[in-house]
Amino acid sequence: MSLEVTDLRVEIGGRPVVDGVSFAVPDGARVGIIGESGSGKSLTALAILGLLPDGARASGSVRWNGREILGLPDRELARLRGDDIGMVFQEPRTALNPIRTVGRQIGESVRIHERVSRREALRRAVAEAERVALPDPERIVSRYPHQLSGGQRQRVAIAMALACRPRLLIADEPTTALDVTIQAGVLTLLRTLVQDAGMSLVFITHDLAVLAQVATHAVVLEHGRVVEQGGVADLLHAPSSPVTQALLRDATATLWHPERAHPSVSDAAAAAVQDGPALTAPSGGAIDASVAGEDGATPPTAPTEPGASETGRTP
Ligand SMILES: Nc1ncnc2c1ncn2[C@@H]1O[C@H](COP(=O)(O)OP(=O)(O)OP(=O)(O)O)[C@@H](O)[C@H]1O
Ligand SMILES: [Mg+2]
Repeated sequence: MSLEVTDLRVEIGGRPVVDGVSFAVPDGARVGIIGESGSGKSLTALAILGLLPDGARASGSVRWNGREILGLPDRELARLRGDDIGMVFQEPRTALNPIRTVGRQIGESVRIHERVSRREALRRAVAEAERVALPDPERIVSRYPHQLSGGQRQRVAIAMALACRPRLLIADEPTTALDVTIQAGVLTLLRTLVQDAGMSLVFITHDLAVLAQVATHAVVLEHGRVVEQGGVADLLHAPSSPVTQALLRDATATLWHPERAHPSVSDAAAAAVQDGPALTAPSGGAIDASVAGEDGATPPTAPTEPGASETGRTP
């Protein structure tokens, strides 16, 4: 099942914000969309999904499996989003319903795709929670979103998207809100799940280092236009546009000068230096322990044993 975006345009109030974007996602491909803030990444994704904000108008062509889906009626698009195309957004707090248990929410995703009883859906939710490496899945399904850490909530959002068994997953900055070390665990999980299921992926980020961890191809946007696209390895070795060169400088700066990144990266680096292993080994217990504790929202009742840390549980 392939996605083909041709000359996609989005206008808001007469202003072009996506301006003739074309790219393809062949079956099983993992494509990253990258660009600075405001370059049109999210609106490109929302246009594909038929979820543009009021006042935005899209034109051009979006073909899913050869069928034009741009401008389909809401009901048909909703069915497509339930069956074929899953999505994960940047901030899991807004994607999750605060007054429903995570098990019920994952179960509801199962029920979009399959006619099963609520009870069976809850049983399936446990299996889905396990699939995204949530610790103690039997217990975690009875918790509410605020009782989980940020990384755990994002795993729930991924579980909800994957419970529908989509053929394509669109993830818009799914790890940007997370601590850098926790990001690594979620990225590895996402890539592994997508690969194992033979799904395609559209992954949006502003960070080339992140993109390189999950995608095989990249589309670089600037002011709503594609300035460069190609294989990730080529882009890293010979970026042709100034935008890509700048993104590469930023990514390299973060990798080699961790003090310029999020403060906790430097903490993780310091812990790693004390304990010996390199910064790039996110599964190291010392880094996990120091960063998992900063993840904030984990209440005292949640499991906090070392095995429950974000990065150590990828399948
Ligand atoms: N609801 C809206 N109303 C008006 N303008 C909008 C709206 N949403 C986005 N825009 C404008 O469209 C442009 C592209 O926005 P978009 O959200 O796609 O950027 P982005 O690349 O995802 O940025 P970021 O990395 O910050 O998420 C921006 O100039 C933004 O200000
Ligand atoms: Mg965005």
